[in-house]
Amino acid sequence: MKIDLAILNRQFELYQAEYEKAALKVLRSGWYILGHEVAAFEKEFADYVGAKFCVGVNSGLDALTLSLRALKICAGDEVIVPANTYIATVLAITANGATPVFVEPDEFYNLDSSKVAKAITSRTKAIMVVHLYGQAADVEKISKLARENNLALVEDCAQSHGAKFNGKMTGTFGNIGCFSFYPTKNLGGFGDGGAIVTDDENLAATIGKLRNYGSKVKYHNELAGVNSRLDEMQAALLRVKLSHLDSLNDERKKIADKYSAEIKNSRLILPKIRDGAEHVYHQFVVRTNQREAFKNFLERNGIKTVIHYPIPPHLAECYSHLGYGRGDFPLTEKYSDEVLSLPMFNGMTDEEINFVIGVCNEYDA
Ligand SMILES: Cc1ncc(COP(=O)(O)O)c(C=O)c1O
Repeated sequence: MKIDLAILNRQFELYQAEYEKAALKVLRSGWYILGHEVAAFEKEFADYVGAKFCVGVNSGLDALTLSLRALKICAGDEVIVPANTYIATVLAITANGATPVFVEPDEFYNLDSSKVAKAITSRTKAIMVVHLYGQAADVEKISKLARENNLALVEDCAQSHGAKFNGKMTGTFGNIGCFSFYPTKNLGGFGDGGAIVTDDENLAATIGKLRNYGSKVKYHNELAGVNSRLDEMQAALLRVKLSHLDSLNDERKKIADKYSAEIKNSRLILPKIRDGAEHVYHQFVVRTNQREAFKNFLERNGIKTVIHYPIPPHLAECYSHLGYGRGDFPLTEKYSDEVLSLPMFNGMTDEEINFVIGVCNEYDA
């Protein structure tokens, strides 16, 4: 049997007729940018998350970058960010000329709330929290810290659509929540896409302009903006998927529950769940100090896995000028040396799930 980390046509096939109908409607409408579908998706997604406003943009990275820009974060400012994240979170900071200040993760792979206070300086303007792999970070404590220190809080929810902490949706704890609709995401589109959610009308209005050349009214450019619009086709397809997101997340949770109950191998560390946090399993990440051998064993048995992520941002080539080296964030580096994501996707069959479990249990280096 051959299994990929994610087989994306399966989730299309689950609701194929609905997607095709929505796509045809857009094709026949003659209106492809910033129209009814984007406005309807923004309203539906804001309602789903429990925020007042949503603005669709072109990607998760743009959602993060434009959020920091709307918060007026710029050169000379520091932004606290998890050392253990996908590099896009950090790229949004440096794209605005600001300096990332990395903080180590906790045992759930997310920003360690007990280490944030020590990283705050007189230059700190914001904290970015990432709900990595689909599990809510310790976001109540972090948002309290942000409020007490008069800092903006931006949530990177690229991997946490529908995940909650103490019953409240990720994306609603800070000033802005940023989402990606990259095809592999829990709410993935059929191309690039992203969105911000916020309760702040001014921030929503500013990002609404920034995404469209800085204009609200055509050819009246109030801000030097960019072109970062969610298009009508993506919005129409995302509306279909959003209507099924809870059951798609439930399906992921069932796969994860089965993995957690039935993978029994002392060489593997399985994901742990924080009290109060809900995990929507964007990825099911295991850890082992024999990663190379384990990965190769799975591959020989037809199971493809991916490392999220092999090079932590502080060691990325593009950030060599920041002067970090190996050993500066030991926990982050240990995780990046040991983590491995197992196949996890909507439409995965029982046979495939059982096969992955069986091969993991057979591994005996
Ligand atoms: C944590 C995180 N932040 C940001 C992004 C960027 O999203 P996009 O690929 O839509 O730009 C991603 C997605 O890859 C991500 O996983």
